[in-house]
Amino acid sequence: MSDNILYKTVGLKKYYLAKKRGILESISKQPPIYVKALDGISIEIKKGETLGVVGESGSGKTTLGKILATLEKPTEGHLFFMGRPVNNGNEEYVRKKVHMVFQNPATSVNPRMRVKDIVKEGMKSKNDQKVKELLKEVGLDYDYVKDKYPRELSGGQLQRVAIARALAKEPEFLILDEPTSALDASVQAQILNLLADLQKERNLTYLFITHNISVAKFISNRVIIMYAGKLVEEGNSSEVISEPMHPYTQALLNSVPDLNRKQLKPPSGEVPSLINPPKGCRFHPRCPMAMEVCKNNEPPLVEVNGRKVACWLYETNWKKTSS
Ligand SMILES: Nc1ncnc2c1ncn2[C@@H]1O[C@H](COP(=O)(O)OP(=O)(O)O)[C@@H](O)[C@H]1O
Ligand code: SF4
Ligand SMILES: [Mg+2]
Repeated sequence: MSDNILYKTVGLKKYYLAKKRGILESISKQPPIYVKALDGISIEIKKGETLGVVGESGSGKTTLGKILATLEKPTEGHLFFMGRPVNNGNEEYVRKKVHMVFQNPATSVNPRMRVKDIVKEGMKSKNDQKVKELLKEVGLDYDYVKDKYPRELSGGQLQRVAIARALAKEPEFLILDEPTSALDASVQAQILNLLADLQKERNLTYLFITHNISVAKFISNRVIIMYAGKLVEEGNSSEVISEPMHPYTQALLNSVPDLNRKQLKPPSGEVPSLINPPKGCRFHPRCPMAMEVCKNNEPPLVEVNGRKVACWLYETNWKKTSS
């Protein structure tokens, strides 16, 4: 593996049990029902980059983040962190270097702890001076916030505390799960600028999860677009966003309000069930370009002009593989 790759996943799957099986179901040998939250995700995250993860709600973004943070175990597939396979027993080594920041800091920090203790919790040396420096680094005044409880802070201030808490652990890789989605636009911009500055100063690598493609364009070097547990497009973020190849990426972009756009054209229909996803291309029931081949045959992820895309429109050999 190249030295430049910090994290790599191969064929990652995560199937959650849709509901607990009762005694009757076990006796009658009814097969368990699974939610296929991730279904074969292979990605590489380069040192020092921001990889954006974009997709509608329920596409598997948080599940991917939790597996990379070792908060969840994959059902199948492999993880390699700094070239070493991640498996039962060596998660501690990953946890020292990887931390996750969640969308809603009000639920991810302990409401009964004061700010200084929240930040101190993750530090090796529980040192007040270090807490002061960290809070300053995320733009907070130590004397003003140190003895406050989470409920006494605004959403933006609290997200800064959550970022300081993650930095206290001296991570190399931060998984940022919709860290600005709950904030007003101006506060969102401040937090995005803060994250960009911290990345430069501390040489951090980010996985930035968002359903907002404009935010992904601002913050990411590369993006992956996810749909119903699958990776459908991957590439340099400015290229993917200025010239999307996959019909789903095109539909996502057509649903972004923009000062010059007169009409929004979001993808029609609903995100499919992940218990029984559509056969073939999972996007085919909503795709304006769907062809016969798409209904029964899953498109492979192929490389096209330095980008990866999973769509039969770009697979020149599909006639050979279709039934
Ligand atoms: N612990 C769980 N048990 C069962 N289903 C889950 C669990 N966590 C997530 N899911 C399901 O997995 C799918 C993907 O969820 P998630 O990764 O949270 O998507 P996203 O972050 O893109 O909104 C959803 O259908 C969700 O309901
Ligand atoms: S494979 Fe077919 S259905 Fe899927 S995105 Fe491409 S054209 Fe649409
Ligand atoms: Mg999520």
